Amino acid sequence: MQEDKLSALVKLLKPEVAAVKPSSILKFNQDISKIPGILKLTLGEPDFTTPEHIKAAGVSAIEQNDSHYTNSAGKIEVRQATANYLATKYNVHYDPASEILVTAGTTEAIFSALTTIVSKGDEVLIPTPIFPLYIPDTTVNQGVPVFMDTSANHFVLSPELLATTLKDHPRAKVLVLNYPTNPTGVTYRRKDLEALAKVLRQYNVFVLCDEIYSELTYGEPHVSMAELLPEQTILLNGVSKSHAMTGWRIGVLAAPAAIAQEIGKVHQFAITSATTVAQDAALEAFKNGLNDGQEMKQAYEKRRDYLFTALQAIGFECVKPEGAFYLFVKIPASLPQDSFKCCYELAQEAKVALIPGASFGGGGEGYVRISYAASLTDLKEAVKRLKNYLVQKS
Ligand SMILES: Cc1ncc(COP(=O)(O)O)c(C=O)c1O
Repeated sequence: MQEDKLSALVKLLKPEVAAVKPSSILKFNQDISKIPGILKLTLGEPDFTTPEHIKAAGVSAIEQNDSHYTNSAGKIEVRQATANYLATKYNVHYDPASEILVTAGTTEAIFSALTTIVSKGDEVLIPTPIFPLYIPDTTVNQGVPVFMDTSANHFVLSPELLATTLKDHPRAKVLVLNYPTNPTGVTYRRKDLEALAKVLRQYNVFVLCDEIYSELTYGEPHVSMAELLPEQTILLNGVSKSHAMTGWRIGVLAAPAAIAQEIGKVHQFAITSATTVAQDAALEAFKNGLNDGQEMKQAYEKRRDYLFTALQAIGFECVKPEGAFYLFVKIPASLPQDSFKCCYELAQEAKVALIPGASFGGGGEGYVRISYAASLTDLKEAVKRLKNYLVQKS
């Protein structure tokens, strides 16, 4: 094809898509993966495998030729099992026929929800540091992200900051909340959520509440925002983290019927329905795998405790995480305070790969994210390497 023709065609593409910057995390990961002997604590997914009974349900679905489209919202049995799961675990109540969608991972649920809500110039309130996906899903819909830096409040959004931001941003339509939080591992307790709900009730705004790590909490049990603020909450969850099923691509979205029905249209245009055999596997997870996460959780908790203590001992300070499988640690003074520089240096010199905190937005600079979705043996080796490097530098 001629160059000038191609560049004319490229100009036809949506500018909001062209403006999305390639993921800095992805580039960093590609760069450091080439380093021989590198130990990567960068992973954002469980290092466990899907439980056997869930795999068996998937195999059986294939063998029984369950390979046709399903209802766009998902098989009714899966929606029913999701409703039971959410009610049993988190005391939230949804009608499977009209208030639940089975999506292609939480990722698609985030995209479908934000596409349904956000038009040109609408504002999306995003506390940072945060999992970056919500940002392009806002801007490709011509929305405007409004960032709220939570680093001064132990990475928890305070009701005061939320109240001022809502007052200053009358075009805000939705607050994104993710807890337990990627990348900090902090979570919101009932009293934190009640204080936020009190502010939110005064406004007509949604809360897009990404509770994908809800099964991985190490302190008080998880409280869902949907329990406190059911009318305004669009609840997201799934099996990726709770059942080590990231590749099956099943998430769930729950919201009041009138809202779920509208989001269901975008979901239908985008994917028709979630993969049928993966829905069968998720049915097994929700129905008979209620406590599958417990064993994994115990292992994560042990790793968290080890890593938290071991890192503090060598000079990495951090807030003790109460959920997910990440530690968000302050870069020691002897290392570059620019988190990308620091991570490239640690990867090249100490042969340990961590994610630069700046990738997660305001408040993240000066920090690095360490994933403990890795074996205890690898974590111990990583600490040893970091310690040796820091000793060498001092
Ligand atoms: C906060 C958060 N939300 C959503 C996702 C994506 O989840 P899923 O695999 O269900 O698409 C991730 C993945 O790392 C995440 O950290």
